[in-house]
Amino acid sequence: MIDITFKTTIEPFKIKMVEPIHISIPEERIKYLKAAHYNPFLLTSEQVIIDFLTDSGTSAMSAKQWSGILDGDEAYAGSKSWLKMESVIKELTGCEHILPVHQGRAAERILYGYLGGEGKVFFSNTHFDTTRANIEVTGAEAIDLVIKEANDPSLELPFKGNLDIEKLEAQILEKDPSNVAAVILTVTNNSGGGQPVSMANAKAVRHICKKFGILFLIDSCRVAENAWFIKHREKEYEDISYKDIAKEMIALADGSIMSAKKDGLVNMGGYLALKDKELAEACNNSLIITEGFSTYGGLSGRDMEAIAQGLNEVFSPDYLHYRIKSTAYLGNKLDAMGIPVMKPIGGHAVYVDAKAFYSHIPVDEYPGQALVTSLYLTGGIRSVEIGSVMFGKYDEAGKLIPAPMELVRLAIPRRVYTQSHIEYVIEVFEKILENKNDVKGFKIVKEPKFLRHFTAHFEPITC
Ligand code: F0G
Repeated sequence: MIDITFKTTIEPFKIKMVEPIHISIPEERIKYLKAAHYNPFLLTSEQVIIDFLTDSGTSAMSAKQWSGILDGDEAYAGSKSWLKMESVIKELTGCEHILPVHQGRAAERILYGYLGGEGKVFFSNTHFDTTRANIEVTGAEAIDLVIKEANDPSLELPFKGNLDIEKLEAQILEKDPSNVAAVILTVTNNSGGGQPVSMANAKAVRHICKKFGILFLIDSCRVAENAWFIKHREKEYEDISYKDIAKEMIALADGSIMSAKKDGLVNMGGYLALKDKELAEACNNSLIITEGFSTYGGLSGRDMEAIAQGLNEVFSPDYLHYRIKSTAYLGNKLDAMGIPVMKPIGGHAVYVDAKAFYSHIPVDEYPGQALVTSLYLTGGIRSVEIGSVMFGKYDEAGKLIPAPMELVRLAIPRRVYTQSHIEYVIEVFEKILENKNDVKGFKIVKEPKFLRHFTAHFEPITC
Protein backbone atom coordinates (compact mmCIF):
# COMPACT_ATOMS: atom_id res chain seq x y z
CA MET A 1 0.00 0.00 0.00
CA ILE A 2 1.39 3.45 -0.91
CA ASP A 3 1.39 6.14 1.79
CA ILE A 4 -0.19 9.20 0.17
CA THR A 5 -0.40 11.29 3.36
CA PHE A 6 2.36 13.62 2.16
CA LYS A 7 2.36 15.73 -0.98
CA THR A 8 6.09 15.24 -1.65
CA THR A 9 6.80 12.03 -3.54
CA ILE A 10 10.20 11.13 -2.17
CA GLU A 11 12.63 8.91 -4.05
CA PRO A 12 12.07 5.39 -2.66
CA PHE A 13 15.82 4.69 -2.51
CA LYS A 14 18.98 5.91 -0.80
CA ILE A 15 22.07 6.95 -2.76
CA LYS A 16 24.96 4.53 -2.31
CA MET A 17 27.31 5.64 -5.07
CA VAL A 18 27.65 9.00 -6.77
CA GLU A 19 28.79 10.22 -10.17
CA PRO A 20 30.04 13.83 -10.28
CA ILE A 21 28.43 16.31 -12.67
CA HIS A 22 30.53 19.15 -14.12
CA ILE A 23 28.53 22.35 -13.70
CA SER A 24 29.51 24.15 -16.90
CA ILE A 25 29.06 27.87 -17.56
CA PRO A 26 27.20 29.32 -20.61
CA GLU A 27 30.47 30.33 -22.39
CA GLU A 28 31.67 26.72 -22.26
CA ARG A 29 28.34 25.44 -23.54
CA ILE A 30 28.33 27.72 -26.58
CA LYS A 31 31.74 26.33 -27.52
CA TYR A 32 30.64 22.71 -26.96
CA LEU A 33 27.44 23.10 -28.94
CA LYS A 34 29.12 24.73 -31.95
CA ALA A 35 31.65 21.90 -32.03
CA ALA A 36 28.72 19.44 -31.94
CA HIS A 37 27.11 21.18 -34.97
CA TYR A 38 24.12 22.10 -32.76
CA ASN A 39 23.20 18.42 -32.45
CA PRO A 40 23.09 17.30 -28.78
CA PHE A 41 23.67 13.69 -29.85
CA LEU A 42 27.19 14.84 -30.75
CA LEU A 43 27.95 16.32 -27.31
CA THR A 44 29.96 14.31 -24.80
CA SER A 45 28.14 13.43 -21.59
CA GLU A 46 30.69 15.42 -19.57
CA GLN A 47 29.46 18.55 -21.37
CA VAL A 48 25.95 17.95 -20.04
CA ILE A 49 24.54 18.89 -16.61
CA ILE A 50 21.15 17.15 -16.72
CA ASP A 51 20.89 14.44 -19.34
CA PHE A 52 17.33 14.00 -20.55
CA LEU A 53 18.36 12.69 -23.96
CA THR A 54 16.88 9.30 -23.20
CA ASP A 55 15.52 7.06 -20.49
CA SER A 56 17.11 4.15 -22.35
CA GLY A 57 20.05 2.39 -20.75
CA THR A 58 20.50 5.29 -18.35
CA SER A 59 18.90 3.75 -15.25
CA ALA A 60 20.73 3.51 -11.95
CA MET A 61 20.89 -0.12 -10.95
CA SER A 62 20.06 -1.37 -7.47
CA ALA A 63 22.46 -2.96 -4.98
CA LYS A 64 20.80 -6.30 -5.78
CA GLN A 65 21.47 -5.84 -9.50
CA TRP A 66 25.11 -4.98 -8.86
CA SER A 67 25.54 -7.97 -6.60
CA GLY A 68 23.98 -10.13 -9.31
CA ILE A 69 26.62 -8.80 -11.68
CA LEU A 70 29.39 -10.39 -9.60
CA ASP A 71 27.49 -13.66 -9.84
CA GLY A 72 27.22 -13.55 -13.67
CA ASP A 73 27.96 -16.87 -15.33
CA GLU A 74 29.92 -16.16 -18.51
CA ALA A 75 29.57 -19.61 -20.09
CA TYR A 76 29.09 -19.47 -23.85
CA ALA A 77 26.27 -22.03 -23.76
CA GLY A 78 23.71 -22.78 -21.06
CA SER A 79 24.85 -20.07 -18.62
CA LYS A 80 22.94 -20.15 -15.34
CA SER A 81 22.45 -16.38 -15.67
CA TRP A 82 20.66 -17.03 -18.95
CA LEU A 83 18.43 -19.65 -17.32
CA LYS A 84 17.54 -17.13 -14.63
CA MET A 85 16.76 -14.38 -17.17
CA GLU A 86 14.83 -16.79 -19.37
CA SER A 87 12.63 -17.98 -16.52
CA VAL A 88 11.77 -14.39 -15.46
CA ILE A 89 10.83 -13.53 -19.07
CA LYS A 90 8.85 -16.73 -19.56
CA GLU A 91 6.86 -15.90 -16.45
CA LEU A 92 6.25 -12.32 -17.63
CA THR A 93 5.39 -13.12 -21.24
CA GLY A 94 3.93 -16.60 -21.05
CA CYS A 95 5.95 -17.34 -24.21
CA GLU A 96 7.79 -20.59 -24.75
CA HIS A 97 10.51 -19.15 -27.00
CA ILE A 98 12.78 -16.43 -25.60
CA LEU A 99 15.68 -14.98 -27.60
CA PRO A 100 18.15 -12.73 -25.79
CA VAL A 101 19.47 -9.70 -27.69
CA HIS A 102 21.85 -6.88 -26.84
CA GLN A 103 19.11 -4.26 -27.23
CA GLY A 104 15.63 -3.74 -28.63
CA ARG A 105 16.59 -2.83 -32.18
CA ALA A 106 18.50 -6.10 -32.57
CA ALA A 107 15.23 -7.94 -31.89
CA GLU A 108 13.52 -5.58 -34.34
CA ARG A 109 16.05 -6.27 -37.05
CA ILE A 110 15.77 -10.01 -36.57
CA LEU A 111 11.97 -10.16 -36.44
CA TYR A 112 11.02 -7.41 -38.91
CA GLY A 113 13.85 -8.46 -41.19
CA TYR A 114 12.20 -11.87 -41.39
CA LEU A 115 8.60 -10.66 -41.62
CA GLY A 116 9.20 -7.62 -43.81
CA GLY A 117 10.22 -7.12 -47.44
CA GLU A 118 8.83 -5.38 -50.52
CA GLY A 119 5.02 -5.26 -50.57
CA LYS A 120 4.62 -5.96 -46.84
CA VAL A 121 3.00 -3.53 -44.46
CA PHE A 122 3.17 -3.08 -40.68
CA PHE A 123 0.67 -1.16 -38.57
CA SER A 124 1.37 0.36 -35.18
CA ASN A 125 -0.04 3.02 -32.88
CA THR A 126 3.21 4.91 -33.58
CA HIS A 127 6.34 3.19 -34.83
CA PHE A 128 9.38 4.20 -32.79
CA ASP A 129 12.21 5.48 -35.01
CA THR A 130 14.30 2.28 -34.88
CA THR A 131 11.15 0.21 -35.42
CA ARG A 132 10.27 2.21 -38.51
CA ALA A 133 13.85 2.10 -39.79
CA ASN A 134 14.11 -1.68 -39.33
CA ILE A 135 10.87 -2.13 -41.25
CA GLU A 136 11.57 0.37 -44.03
CA VAL A 137 15.09 -0.91 -44.62
CA THR A 138 13.51 -4.22 -45.76
CA GLY A 139 11.39 -2.38 -48.33
CA ALA A 140 8.20 -2.79 -46.26
CA GLU A 141 5.87 0.02 -45.26
CA ALA A 142 5.28 1.22 -41.66
CA ILE A 143 1.94 2.94 -41.08
CA ASP A 144 1.00 4.76 -37.86
CA LEU A 145 -2.61 4.45 -36.76
CA VAL A 146 -2.73 6.16 -33.40
CA ILE A 147 -6.14 7.63 -32.45
CA LYS A 148 -6.57 11.09 -33.97
CA GLU A 149 -6.90 12.76 -30.54
CA ALA A 150 -3.27 11.83 -29.92
CA ASN A 151 -2.18 14.55 -32.34
CA ASP A 152 -3.63 17.28 -30.17
CA PRO A 153 -1.01 17.79 -27.43
CA SER A 154 -3.36 19.78 -25.18
CA LEU A 155 -6.18 17.23 -25.07
CA GLU A 156 -6.54 15.32 -21.78
CA LEU A 157 -7.51 11.68 -22.39
CA PRO A 158 -6.61 8.67 -20.24
CA PHE A 159 -5.23 6.50 -23.05
CA LYS A 160 -3.87 8.69 -25.82
CA GLY A 161 -1.53 5.90 -26.96
CA ASN A 162 -4.42 3.78 -28.24
CA LEU A 163 -4.49 2.47 -31.78
CA ASP A 164 -7.47 3.48 -33.90
CA ILE A 165 -9.35 0.21 -34.28
CA GLU A 166 -11.66 1.36 -37.07
CA LYS A 167 -8.79 2.67 -39.13
CA LEU A 168 -6.88 -0.54 -38.51
CA GLU A 169 -9.67 -2.67 -39.90
CA ALA A 170 -10.15 -0.37 -42.90
CA GLN A 171 -6.42 -0.32 -43.65
CA ILE A 172 -6.11 -4.10 -43.37
CA LEU A 173 -8.87 -4.47 -45.94
CA GLU A 174 -7.36 -1.81 -48.18
CA LYS A 175 -3.88 -3.33 -48.14
CA ASP A 176 -5.22 -6.93 -48.17
CA PRO A 177 -4.67 -9.03 -45.03
CA SER A 178 -2.14 -11.24 -46.82
CA ASN A 179 0.22 -8.26 -47.15
CA VAL A 180 0.06 -7.28 -43.50
CA ALA A 181 3.20 -8.58 -41.78
CA ALA A 182 2.17 -7.61 -38.23
CA VAL A 183 0.39 -5.14 -36.00
CA ILE A 184 2.74 -3.71 -33.36
CA LEU A 185 1.30 -2.12 -30.25
CA THR A 186 3.91 0.04 -28.55
CA VAL A 187 3.28 0.44 -24.83
CA THR A 188 3.61 3.15 -23.76
CA ASN A 189 3.54 4.98 -27.08
CA ASN A 190 6.98 6.58 -27.00
CA SER A 191 6.94 8.60 -30.23
CA GLY A 192 3.35 9.64 -29.59
CA GLY A 193 4.22 11.39 -26.33
CA GLY A 194 4.77 8.45 -23.97
CA GLN A 195 1.03 8.01 -23.71
CA PRO A 196 -0.42 4.76 -22.36
CA VAL A 197 -2.45 2.13 -24.17
CA SER A 198 -5.53 0.67 -22.45
CA MET A 199 -6.12 -3.02 -21.93
CA ALA A 200 -9.42 -2.60 -23.77
CA ASN A 201 -7.52 -1.30 -26.80
CA ALA A 202 -5.01 -4.17 -26.68
CA LYS A 203 -7.94 -6.60 -26.54
CA ALA A 204 -9.58 -4.93 -29.53
CA VAL A 205 -6.33 -5.13 -31.53
CA ARG A 206 -6.06 -8.80 -30.69
CA HIS A 207 -9.64 -9.34 -31.85
CA ILE A 208 -8.97 -7.73 -35.24
CA CYS A 209 -5.69 -9.58 -35.68
CA LYS A 210 -7.38 -12.90 -34.89
CA LYS A 211 -10.21 -12.11 -37.30
CA PHE A 212 -7.79 -11.58 -40.20
CA GLY A 213 -5.12 -14.08 -39.11
CA ILE A 214 -2.50 -11.35 -38.63
CA LEU A 215 0.45 -11.53 -36.24
CA PHE A 216 0.00 -9.31 -33.17
CA LEU A 217 3.13 -8.05 -31.43
CA ILE A 218 3.69 -5.84 -28.41
CA ASP A 219 6.69 -3.56 -28.04
CA SER A 220 6.80 -3.91 -24.27
CA CYS A 221 9.81 -1.80 -23.31
CA ARG A 222 7.70 0.40 -21.00
CA VAL A 223 5.03 -2.15 -20.11
CA ALA A 224 5.43 -1.63 -16.34
CA GLU A 225 4.81 2.12 -16.65
CA ASN A 226 1.86 1.35 -18.91
CA ALA A 227 0.51 -1.03 -16.24
CA TRP A 228 0.55 1.83 -13.72
CA PHE A 229 -1.80 3.83 -15.96
CA ILE A 230 -4.10 0.86 -16.50
CA LYS A 231 -4.40 0.19 -12.77
CA HIS A 232 -5.23 3.84 -12.05
CA ARG A 233 -7.34 4.64 -15.11
CA GLU A 234 -9.15 1.46 -16.11
CA LYS A 235 -11.65 0.68 -13.37
CA GLU A 236 -11.68 -3.11 -13.61
CA TYR A 237 -7.91 -3.25 -13.03
CA GLU A 238 -7.72 -1.23 -9.81
CA ASP A 239 -7.26 -4.33 -7.66
CA ILE A 240 -4.88 -6.16 -9.97
CA SER A 241 -1.12 -5.94 -9.38
CA TYR A 242 1.07 -4.08 -11.86
CA LYS A 243 2.84 -7.26 -12.82
CA ASP A 244 -0.38 -9.17 -13.43
CA ILE A 245 -1.65 -6.33 -15.61
CA ALA A 246 1.55 -6.42 -17.66
CA LYS A 247 1.32 -10.21 -17.96
CA GLU A 248 -2.28 -10.04 -19.10
CA MET A 249 -1.48 -7.46 -21.76
CA ILE A 250 1.57 -9.26 -23.13
CA ALA A 251 -0.34 -12.56 -23.19
CA LEU A 252 -2.84 -11.05 -25.64
CA ALA A 253 -0.17 -10.90 -28.34
CA ASP A 254 1.63 -13.57 -30.35
CA GLY A 255 4.95 -12.21 -29.21
CA SER A 256 6.74 -9.24 -27.75
CA ILE A 257 9.92 -7.29 -28.15
CA MET A 258 11.57 -5.63 -25.22
CA SER A 259 14.42 -3.23 -24.93
CA ALA A 260 15.32 -3.99 -21.29
CA LYS A 261 17.17 -0.65 -21.27
CA LYS A 262 13.86 0.93 -20.22
CA ASP A 263 11.64 -0.99 -17.79
CA GLY A 264 14.27 -3.71 -17.42
CA LEU A 265 16.18 -1.12 -15.35
CA VAL A 266 19.51 -2.05 -16.95
CA ASN A 267 22.11 -0.32 -19.07
CA MET A 268 22.08 -2.93 -21.85
CA GLY A 269 19.92 -5.82 -22.99
CA GLY A 270 16.66 -6.96 -24.45
CA TYR A 271 14.75 -9.93 -25.74
CA LEU A 272 12.32 -11.28 -28.28
CA ALA A 273 9.55 -13.53 -26.92
CA LEU A 274 7.48 -15.63 -29.31
CA LYS A 275 4.71 -18.19 -29.06
CA ASP A 276 5.18 -19.73 -32.49
CA LYS A 277 7.92 -22.37 -32.76
CA GLU A 278 8.60 -21.99 -36.48
CA LEU A 279 8.89 -18.22 -36.31
CA ALA A 280 11.15 -18.54 -33.27
CA GLU A 281 13.40 -20.99 -35.12
CA ALA A 282 13.75 -18.67 -38.09
CA CYS A 283 14.62 -15.78 -35.77
CA ASN A 284 17.02 -17.96 -33.83
CA ASN A 285 19.04 -18.62 -36.98
CA SER A 286 19.45 -14.92 -37.58
CA LEU A 287 20.25 -14.37 -33.89
CA ILE A 288 23.13 -16.85 -33.98
CA ILE A 289 24.58 -15.36 -37.15
CA THR A 290 24.65 -11.76 -35.94
CA GLU A 291 24.03 -11.49 -32.18
CA GLY A 292 25.46 -14.59 -30.56
CA PHE A 293 24.45 -18.05 -29.43
CA SER A 294 20.84 -18.43 -28.32
CA THR A 295 21.75 -18.54 -24.62
CA TYR A 296 23.38 -15.11 -24.56
CA GLY A 297 22.52 -13.26 -27.81
CA GLY A 298 25.17 -10.55 -27.45
CA LEU A 299 24.86 -10.18 -23.66
CA SER A 300 27.35 -11.03 -20.96
CA GLY A 301 26.21 -13.34 -18.19
CA ARG A 302 26.36 -10.38 -15.80
CA ASP A 303 24.00 -8.35 -18.00
CA MET A 304 21.52 -11.21 -17.87
CA GLU A 305 21.68 -11.32 -14.06
CA ALA A 306 20.90 -7.60 -13.92
CA ILE A 307 17.98 -7.99 -16.34
CA ALA A 308 16.46 -10.87 -14.36
CA GLN A 309 16.56 -8.74 -11.21
CA GLY A 310 15.45 -5.49 -12.93
CA LEU A 311 12.40 -7.07 -14.53
CA ASN A 312 11.14 -7.98 -11.07
CA GLU A 313 12.09 -4.72 -9.31
CA VAL A 314 10.32 -2.56 -11.86
CA PHE A 315 6.91 -3.79 -10.72
CA SER A 316 7.45 -2.61 -7.12
CA PRO A 317 4.48 -0.37 -6.22
CA ASP A 318 6.78 2.07 -4.36
CA TYR A 319 9.01 2.39 -7.40
CA LEU A 320 6.23 2.74 -9.99
CA HIS A 321 4.33 5.25 -7.86
CA TYR A 322 7.46 7.41 -7.53
CA ARG A 323 8.34 6.99 -11.20
CA ILE A 324 5.01 8.16 -12.56
CA LYS A 325 4.44 10.85 -9.94
CA SER A 326 7.91 12.37 -10.31
CA THR A 327 7.55 12.60 -14.08
CA ALA A 328 4.13 14.22 -13.63
CA TYR A 329 5.62 16.65 -11.08
CA LEU A 330 7.92 18.14 -13.72
CA GLY A 331 5.23 18.15 -16.39
CA ASN A 332 2.61 19.78 -14.21
CA LYS A 333 5.02 22.49 -13.02
CA LEU A 334 5.90 23.36 -16.62
CA ASP A 335 2.23 23.37 -17.53
CA ALA A 336 1.45 25.74 -14.64
CA MET A 337 4.17 28.11 -15.94
CA GLY A 338 2.45 28.26 -19.32
CA ILE A 339 4.85 25.97 -21.16
CA PRO A 340 2.74 23.94 -23.62
CA VAL A 341 3.27 20.29 -22.69
CA MET A 342 1.76 17.13 -24.09
CA LYS A 343 -1.15 16.22 -21.87
CA PRO A 344 -1.72 14.21 -19.84
CA ILE A 345 1.88 13.70 -18.71
CA GLY A 346 3.17 10.31 -19.85
CA GLY A 347 5.26 7.78 -17.96
CA HIS A 348 8.89 8.21 -18.91
CA ALA A 349 9.10 11.72 -20.23
CA VAL A 350 7.63 15.17 -20.48
CA TYR A 351 7.04 16.33 -24.05
CA VAL A 352 7.03 20.03 -24.77
CA ASP A 353 5.02 21.20 -27.78
CA ALA A 354 7.72 23.27 -29.47
CA LYS A 355 5.45 24.34 -32.34
CA ALA A 356 3.13 26.06 -29.84
CA PHE A 357 6.00 27.34 -27.67
CA TYR A 358 8.04 28.88 -30.49
CA SER A 359 5.06 29.70 -32.68
CA HIS A 360 7.13 32.31 -34.53
CA ILE A 361 9.46 29.60 -35.94
CA PRO A 362 8.06 27.79 -39.02
CA VAL A 363 8.19 23.97 -38.99
CA ASP A 364 10.78 23.89 -41.77
CA GLU A 365 13.07 25.82 -39.44
CA TYR A 366 12.65 23.15 -36.78
CA PRO A 367 11.20 24.80 -33.64
CA GLY A 368 11.95 21.60 -31.69
CA GLN A 369 15.63 21.82 -32.49
CA ALA A 370 15.55 25.46 -31.40
CA LEU A 371 14.16 24.47 -28.00
CA VAL A 372 16.65 21.63 -27.59
CA THR A 373 19.40 24.17 -28.22
CA SER A 374 17.96 26.75 -25.81
CA LEU A 375 17.72 24.15 -23.05
CA TYR A 376 21.35 23.22 -23.49
CA LEU A 377 22.70 26.75 -23.77
CA THR A 378 20.63 28.04 -20.86
CA GLY A 379 21.07 25.20 -18.39
CA GLY A 380 23.20 22.40 -19.82
CA ILE A 381 20.08 20.24 -20.22
CA ARG A 382 20.23 17.72 -23.03
CA SER A 383 16.91 16.75 -24.60
CA VAL A 384 15.78 15.38 -27.94
CA GLU A 385 13.65 16.69 -30.75
CA ILE A 386 10.78 14.38 -31.73
CA GLY A 387 9.36 16.20 -34.69
CA SER A 388 10.38 17.03 -38.22
CA VAL A 389 14.10 16.51 -37.60
CA MET A 390 13.39 12.95 -36.52
CA PHE A 391 10.44 12.06 -38.73
CA GLY A 392 10.32 14.69 -41.48
CA LYS A 393 10.65 13.56 -45.09
CA TYR A 394 11.17 15.44 -48.35
CA ASP A 395 8.81 15.51 -51.30
CA GLU A 396 10.07 15.20 -54.87
CA ALA A 397 10.78 18.91 -55.04
CA GLY A 398 12.93 18.66 -51.90
CA LYS A 399 10.35 20.44 -49.73
CA LEU A 400 9.94 19.24 -46.15
CA ILE A 401 6.91 17.05 -45.37
CA PRO A 402 6.71 17.82 -41.67
CA ALA A 403 5.97 15.36 -38.86
CA PRO A 404 2.48 15.64 -37.30
CA MET A 405 3.92 17.28 -34.16
CA GLU A 406 7.04 19.21 -33.19
CA LEU A 407 7.82 17.86 -29.74
CA VAL A 408 10.85 18.06 -27.48
CA ARG A 409 11.23 15.13 -25.17
CA LEU A 410 12.62 15.43 -21.68
CA ALA A 411 13.18 11.74 -21.04
CA ILE A 412 13.83 11.00 -17.42
CA PRO A 413 16.39 8.34 -16.56
CA ARG A 414 15.12 5.90 -13.94
CA ARG A 415 16.29 6.39 -10.34
CA VAL A 416 19.02 8.87 -11.40
CA TYR A 417 17.92 12.44 -10.61
CA THR A 418 16.51 13.80 -7.37
CA GLN A 419 13.82 16.39 -6.88
CA SER A 420 16.41 19.19 -6.61
CA HIS A 421 17.66 18.34 -10.11
CA ILE A 422 14.08 18.65 -11.28
CA GLU A 423 13.66 22.01 -9.50
CA TYR A 424 16.74 23.22 -11.40
CA VAL A 425 15.19 22.15 -14.72
CA ILE A 426 12.06 24.13 -13.86
CA GLU A 427 14.21 27.21 -13.19
CA VAL A 428 15.94 26.81 -16.56
CA PHE A 429 12.54 26.85 -18.24
CA GLU A 430 11.69 30.07 -16.36
CA LYS A 431 14.76 31.69 -17.96
CA ILE A 432 13.90 30.31 -21.39
CA LEU A 433 10.44 31.85 -21.14
CA GLU A 434 11.98 35.30 -20.61
CA ASN A 435 13.63 35.48 -24.05
CA LYS A 436 11.34 33.15 -25.95
CA ASN A 437 10.64 35.54 -28.83
CA ASP A 438 14.32 36.16 -29.64
CA VAL A 439 15.04 32.52 -30.43
CA LYS A 440 15.56 31.65 -34.11
CA GLY A 441 15.18 28.45 -36.13
CA PHE A 442 17.72 26.06 -37.63
CA LYS A 443 18.62 24.59 -40.98
CA ILE A 444 20.08 21.14 -41.63
CA VAL A 445 23.40 21.34 -43.45
CA LYS A 446 24.34 17.64 -43.45
CA GLU A 447 22.27 14.49 -42.98
CA PRO A 448 22.47 10.72 -43.49
CA LYS A 449 19.77 8.68 -45.28
CA PHE A 450 18.30 6.89 -42.23
CA LEU A 451 17.78 8.11 -38.65
CA ARG A 452 19.16 11.53 -39.54
CA HIS A 453 18.60 13.06 -36.09
CA PHE A 454 21.52 11.09 -34.63
CA THR A 455 24.22 12.62 -36.79
CA ALA A 456 22.76 15.57 -38.70
CA HIS A 457 24.62 18.89 -38.61
CA PHE A 458 22.66 22.11 -38.05
CA GLU A 459 23.28 25.80 -38.41
CA PRO A 460 21.28 28.58 -36.78
CA ILE A 461 19.25 30.78 -39.11
CA THR A 462 20.61 34.22 -38.42
CA CYS A 463 18.39 36.58 -40.36
N1 F0G B 1 10.95 0.45 -29.13
C1 F0G B 1 10.71 1.57 -28.42
C2 F0G B 1 9.30 1.95 -28.10
C3 F0G B 1 11.76 2.36 -27.97
O1 F0G B 1 11.50 3.45 -27.25
C4 F0G B 1 13.08 1.96 -28.29
C5 F0G B 1 14.22 2.77 -27.88
C6 F0G B 1 13.29 0.81 -29.04
C7 F0G B 1 12.18 0.07 -29.44
C8 F0G B 1 14.66 0.34 -29.42
O2 F0G B 1 15.34 -0.16 -28.31
O3 F0G B 1 17.29 1.37 -28.00
O4 F0G B 1 17.24 -0.90 -26.98
O5 F0G B 1 17.52 -0.63 -29.41
N2 F0G B 1 14.10 3.93 -27.44
C9 F0G B 1 15.16 4.79 -26.97
C10 F0G B 1 14.60 6.15 -26.67
C11 F0G B 1 16.38 4.81 -27.80
O6 F0G B 1 15.41 7.06 -26.43
O7 F0G B 1 13.39 6.32 -26.63
P1 F0G B 1 16.93 -0.06 -28.18
